[in-house]
Amino acid sequence: MSELQIETVSAVTPELVEGVNRLLPQLTSSPKTLSWRDLEAIVASSSSLIILARCDQEPAGMLTLGWFSAPTGPRAFIDDVVIDERYRGRGIGEALVRSALDHARRLGANTVDLTSRPAREAANRLYRRIGFEQRETNSYRYRFDAVSG
Ligand SMILES: CC(C)(COP(=O)(O)OP(=O)(O)OC[C@H]1O[C@@H](n2cnc3c(N)ncnc32)[C@H](O)[C@@H]1OP(=O)(O)O)[C@@H](O)C(=O)NCCC(=O)NCCS
Repeated sequence: MSELQIETVSAVTPELVEGVNRLLPQLTSSPKTLSWRDLEAIVASSSSLIILARCDQEPAGMLTLGWFSAPTGPRAFIDDVVIDERYRGRGIGEALVRSALDHARRLGANTVDLTSRPAREAANRLYRRIGFEQRETNSYRYRFDAVSG
């Protein structure tokens, strides 16, 4: 039985850089390669945190929790959830999301939001199983790089 550890990332290590850059292509078809400095900026941020899952010490999955205060209350959101293909279907995704919910509660968030495309079937099942409720809203994104002057 492999040993699972869930931890918040507090320092950048070569293993973290390797792990994150192994996981990102399993999340998106257009991954950026993150440098040590890129990861340091995330780790140093006071409004986000990376939660890492290790299986037998090896980085096996991660997510990012972000938070901010709005006039209607403190909010948190979860992004970039990914588990290495070799470790899926063992409850690691669920453990990571539950850990993020614990952090968000401790931070005083009233709600935790996330989005997931319908094609991500395993992810949508995971979020519903944990208790996320689907909201009826329109999701918009403004892309600076897509607007020509
Ligand atoms: C979505 C994703 C994060 C889920 O991670 P995961 O670790 O496989 O998630 P879990 O193991 O907690 O749950 C997955 C399945 O394994 C099952 N499972 C959990 N523990 C298990 C165990 N001990 N034994 C067997 N099955 C188990 C769950 O019931 C679930 O089944 P279901 O999909 O039929 O409902 C992962 O598939 C992934 O990285 N996908 C690609 C990236 C992605 O889509 N990210 C989400 C962006 S919004």
